[in-house]
Amino acid sequence: MSDIIRFLQSRRSVVVRKQGQRPLSDGHLEDILACGMRVPDHGGLAPWRIVVIDSASGARLGREILAPQFLAAHPDATQVMLEAEAARLTRSPVVLAVLSCPRAHPKIPVWEMELSAGAVCQTLLIAAQSLGYAAQWLTEWYAYDDQLLAALGGTPEQDRIAGFIYIGEKQEQPDERRRPQKEDIVRYLAAG
Ligand SMILES: Cc1cc2nc3c(=O)[nH]c(=O)nc-3n(C[C@H](O)[C@H](O)[C@H](O)COP(=O)(O)O)c2cc1C
Repeated sequence: MSDIIRFLQSRRSVVVRKQGQRPLSDGHLEDILACGMRVPDHGGLAPWRIVVIDSASGARLGREILAPQFLAAHPDATQVMLEAEAARLTRSPVVLAVLSCPRAHPKIPVWEMELSAGAVCQTLLIAAQSLGYAAQWLTEWYAYDDQLLAALGGTPEQDRIAGFIYIGEKQEQPDERRRPQKEDIVRYLAAG
């Protein structure tokens, strides 16, 4: 069995609360980004953007957007809750925000451009995991916040946040989770 197949058949996401803060090794972030940009993309439109958020920029977004937006939606929020919201994007040393940026096209449906953004997310995730990092694809509530989308360079009504890829230090091997059964998912179509 090839190393890549073995990796893909055993890779596992590590939840953010179990990720360590040790920074990524030199060059690894650039390698991960290069992999994320190399995805299937009908028409070569590159209908996605990747925003690199480090702890300092994550803290700024938390302070300026996440905490105030959370408070606006939950006026009873306590100070402790607001601090937790403000710190969300600082839970890992780096967070990659993936924006889906589809545009009207005469031949290529928006759906296909959105699928390509999902491919960017998954490829960033597996690239990070293949280098031995703990990584997780999250959306949480703030992926649907237009102020955050705009702060990341997106255009509300047009673009969407496909996900945040949290990448940190792997401190322990995660347990396997329940996986779908092949017979429930895969069907071999008969010839006739
Ligand atoms: C688009 C998308 C959004 C997700 N958002 C969340 C989330 O907000 N919160 C969460 O706990 N898990 C979320 N997950 C699930 C986890 O990232 C991940 O799928 C799960 O931990 C198991 O991952 P694994 O199969 O790679 O081990 C999301 C997954 C996807 C594909």
